[in-house]
Amino acid sequence: MSVVVPAPDPVFAPMSELDLEWVAAQDRLLYPFPWSAISFADSMRAGYGCWMMFDGSEPVGYAVLMMVLDEAHILNISVVSSRQSCGFGRRLLDHLGRVAREAGARQLFLEVRPSNAPALALYQRAGFETIGRRKGYYPAAEGREDALIMRLPLWR
Ligand SMILES: CC(C)(COP(=O)(O)OP(=O)(O)OC[C@H]1O[C@@H](n2cnc3c(N)ncnc32)[C@H](O)[C@@H]1OP(=O)(O)O)[C@@H](O)C(=O)NCCC(=O)NCCS
Repeated sequence: MSVVVPAPDPVFAPMSELDLEWVAAQDRLLYPFPWSAISFADSMRAGYGCWMMFDGSEPVGYAVLMMVLDEAHILNISVVSSRQSCGFGRRLLDHLGRVAREAGARQLFLEVRPSNAPALALYQRAGFETIGRRKGYYPAAEGREDALIMRLPLWR
């Protein structure tokens, strides 16, 4: 008989100045070309939705969401490496979808490296479709890497 472990129930809170150093440190661990604390601070100043995700009092993820008219764009979505593959990414994505819909967005967009298999699987499972490709969009260890542009309709 297999034991079913209940999915964690995270809490979401707006990112604050106090989170910036921790978030930037996580970004350095998670990405080959991370955002700096200044990039996150600029996003907060620009009024983007900058979110922290907590499991109890422990921060386990963060995200940045930009609204442009009735479109929402996910600029960053990250789960700390020790808590990946536990359902937190899906919960964070659902949260961003809810926030975007409540703000009047009808579509949710993001860009992803074709080599980022876990992220691609997450987005496809959530219903995102690939609608285009930006050639050489990302810096990469050897030159540049394309970005896949993905979209999730929010009006359905
Ligand atoms: C991408 C990321 C946010 C996913 O978060 P996560 O908490 O690990 O994802 P979840 O546990 O919620 O998994 C959701 C789905 O994603 C897929 N997935 C997650 N990790 C996977 C992996 N290592 N390999 C393959 N598929 C994976 C699965 O389809 C999973 O659904 P299922 O459990 O029902 O099969 C996380 O891996 C991460 O932060 N990566 C580093 C930063 C990054 O690349 N961000 C995205 C930039 S575009």
